[in-house]
Amino acid sequence: MTIDTQKIIEIDRQNVFHASTHLKQHAHGESPARIITGAQGIRIQDSLGNEFIDGFAGLYCVNIGYGRTEMAEAIYEQAKQLAYYHTYVGHTTEGMASLSERIVKLAGQGMSKVYYGMSGSDANETQLKLVWYYNNILGRKEKKKVISRDRGYHGSSIASGSMTGLPVFHAHFDLPLERIKHTVAPVYYRRPDDAMSELEFSRYCAQKLEEMILAEGPDTVAAMIGEPVLGTGGIVPPPQGYWAEIRKVLDKYDILLIADEVVCGFGRLGVDFGSQYYEMKPDLITVAKGLTSAYQPLSGVIVGERVWQVLEQGTDTYGAIGHGYTYSGHPMGIASAIANLNIIERENLTANARDTGAYLQQRMQETFGQHPLVGEARGIGLLAALEFSSDRSKRQHFDPNLKVGAQISAACLEEGLIARAMPHGDILGFAPPLVVTRGEVDDIVARAERAVNKVTDKLISSGAWQAK
Ligand SMILES: Cc1ncc(COP(=O)(O)O)c(C=O)c1O
Repeated sequence: MTIDTQKIIEIDRQNVFHASTHLKQHAHGESPARIITGAQGIRIQDSLGNEFIDGFAGLYCVNIGYGRTEMAEAIYEQAKQLAYYHTYVGHTTEGMASLSERIVKLAGQGMSKVYYGMSGSDANETQLKLVWYYNNILGRKEKKKVISRDRGYHGSSIASGSMTGLPVFHAHFDLPLERIKHTVAPVYYRRPDDAMSELEFSRYCAQKLEEMILAEGPDTVAAMIGEPVLGTGGIVPPPQGYWAEIRKVLDKYDILLIADEVVCGFGRLGVDFGSQYYEMKPDLITVAKGLTSAYQPLSGVIVGERVWQVLEQGTDTYGAIGHGYTYSGHPMGIASAIANLNIIERENLTANARDTGAYLQQRMQETFGQHPLVGEARGIGLLAALEFSSDRSKRQHFDPNLKVGAQISAACLEEGLIARAMPHGDILGFAPPLVVTRGEVDDIVARAERAVNKVTDKLISSGAWQAK
């Protein structure tokens, strides 16, 4: 089917309010727009007949790849049988009960129950309510603050946007909320002292956290939230020993830990959950994206036994919990999650993320480890990033006005590769679908290399930069 690209884009510009977009430029035709028309495996197509390798799986969510008929059939069958019913006052479906049993088993770590939402943001909103409710039931009326990290990403609603530690999500929105605080980001590349080992840096981060808790008052701090691997803030695996050091501090002051597994959960790191790999021992876990591979919107709050006991106690005293979404446990989302987890299990996609992921990391190191424009190549499993630096030995930032990250992302697009310019600094992110093969990894790395070299040459020839 051919469509009139210009006409549709014009209608879009006049009528659509896009996410994370320069609104004026888009509305006035001053920035590019693209109509995505189809997708198969790791590739997407646009209305002009261009094809791209999606090296970021949408927004690191289409983990089983695009165009799965099995998913379409599961959704179709569910829609025919039961498109919707609510989950209030104990109503359930066979799918929701069995999916929850499966998630609780997979998550392990003392998890007990699953509450469903539609997005990572609303799930983290639920987390905050649960943490507050928990402390109210325990009679600790002041214990309400939540500590997140600079460069953390937890969503863009009021509470989740507050927990996000990226300035662009706060400025001009009157965020963060008063009760949300941010501690240092565990980014070893940006350690305050070159001589620090990874473990020393982890202890430094834990010490900063403890200082914040003491300054705020331990009786006022309810929880900490963190992604096992920092995602949108730059794709940064934690330094050695980080989560163990953090957990020690939290235990000392009776503070809950929420593992935000929206990106890491369901295999992306080559393990079921990042919190298991890093031994976070969370009290609560947030999941979304990889739960359905984005075939339907569905998120979950996985509640650990310790918190669950208090929630039970609360409803015993005060009656049914005052929290509910119309679409909680939506049958279409549940059907997608079941079909998605079946595919992940049957095709061993978590193992593929581990093995092909290790190959991706190796190829990134070989190709970019010594590249003059690259300060650091890092990642784990099928999550990888290149951080660009104007002087790699000094780990210096480029002048932000040069928009080096955005230039390289655009050059990747010219090579037919989608790699994401991360919003914080000159960082290019990779998170291909978990079905990616070694051959496709070679293709992704080769395209990225051509793009990085192209921008390197451009920066040198324009006099904007000299290789150090
Ligand atoms: C770690 C993490 N948590 C939460 C969210 C928010 O999810 P959503 O965009 O579905 O609200 C994201 C989205 O990228 C995320 O990466």
